[in-house]
Amino acid sequence: MAPTLTSLISPEEIAATVMRLGQRIDQDYAGHGVVLVGVLKGAFVFLADLMRQLQTPVERVEFIRLSSYGAGTVSSGSVKVWATPEPTIVSGNHVLLVEDIVDTGRSTTTALALLRDMQPASLKLVALLDKPERRELPITIDYRGMTIPDRFIVGYGIDWDEKYRQLPGIYAVD
Ligand code: PRP
Repeated sequence: MAPTLTSLISPEEIAATVMRLGQRIDQDYAGHGVVLVGVLKGAFVFLADLMRQLQTPVERVEFIRLSSYGAGTVSSGSVKVWATPEPTIVSGNHVLLVEDIVDTGRSTTTALALLRDMQPASLKLVALLDKPERRELPITIDYRGMTIPDRFIVGYGIDWDEKYRQLPGIYAVD
């Protein structure tokens, strides 16, 4: 049966948030280029919009592909790494990890540790959404878009069983 979707964040609110994040990133990276590393799959829509708001030169766009094990609406705790950038691309560069959402913090912790091992000149995190009630591992989010309640969400790249990534807004699944 199709789930009931309740609008949580409109496309206009997302756009305003992405613009604000871009301005803050531009202020901090003045004079530097940045390598963006998106966390697949969920972050690809956010990354595409964010990079087009940046005045900061984007030297490269890279991806790291992770997934939580298991289906359903609650993450199971383990993170599988499917693909990472080449270490030589990360090494010595200013790297900004781009996440759609930080939930338990396990995916982000895995991604940050992998990238840190590749010895970037700097490493920061931008996350469109933060669900702090679910946090299991401490994460410093350098650039946070919005804090959301502990509800399962879809849209703007985020899926429910791989569906609904195409929605331009963000919805709660009930
Ligand atoms: C989601 C989301 C984040 C991660 C956050 O990805 O896109 O990357 O979970 O959850 P966490 O903080 O509890 O680790 P998911 O594993 O569902 O894969 P997907 O992006 O390919 O849909």
